[in-house]
Amino acid sequence: MLDIGCGEGYYLSRFQKEIAPKASNFYGMDISKLGIRMAAKKNPMIHWLVANFAKLPFKEKSVSTVLSMFAEYSVPEIDRILTDDGNIIIVRAANNHLIELKNIIYPEIHEKVKTSSIKTFPGFCVEQENFSYKVTIQSTEDLLSLLLMTPHYWKIKPEGIENLKKFESLEVTISIEIDLLKRQK
Ligand SMILES: C[S@@+](CC[C@H](N)C(=O)[O-])C[C@H]1O[C@@H](n2cnc3c(N)ncnc32)[C@H](O)[C@@H]1O
Repeated sequence: MLDIGCGEGYYLSRFQKEIAPKASNFYGMDISKLGIRMAAKKNPMIHWLVANFAKLPFKEKSVSTVLSMFAEYSVPEIDRILTDDGNIIIVRAANNHLIELKNIIYPEIHEKVKTSSIKTFPGFCVEQENFSYKVTIQSTEDLLSLLLMTPHYWKIKPEGIENLKKFESLEVTISIEIDLLKRQK
């Protein structure tokens, strides 16, 4: 399994520990040296690589499962490295993911910040599952930590953060889409 854009490796580590704690064929890659350093400290069972998703350091048809969690990727590169019967798992935020938070931090929500990019894989069939539920974030500190985990932190104006600091708790919508792709036979 290869996680493209694994960041600090939280999700890949969970996969590895849950489904194959003794396996040594898990790979996490990210362009961020800092992220990979943190990942490597947390889970030495996984091979961690600093690389660019535009040029994956893997041979043709050598990876049986590709994972992309909230990250960008290259369709031709995934197509190149995936085995014939391989799986691709793509997880992304759906339109109303954290909508309550976005309503506070942006003066108005533009289409561009509402959706993450969706790329199609020609020659693949896709099964999609959607998950949506609400959680209450219980403190201003946790709300700020949540914001820091999102790409919005880097896009908003200082007023957005000031607006969020006025909240001591907030119920937010978690809404994600999971695509499972396989080659058409
Ligand atoms: C939103 S974060 C998701 C991180 C992780 N998958 C998670 O869900 O916690 C996107 C990740 O993509 C990585 N990234 C951005 N451009 C990249 C590139 N060209 N090649 C590889 N990784 C890249 C970033 O460094 C970041 O860790």
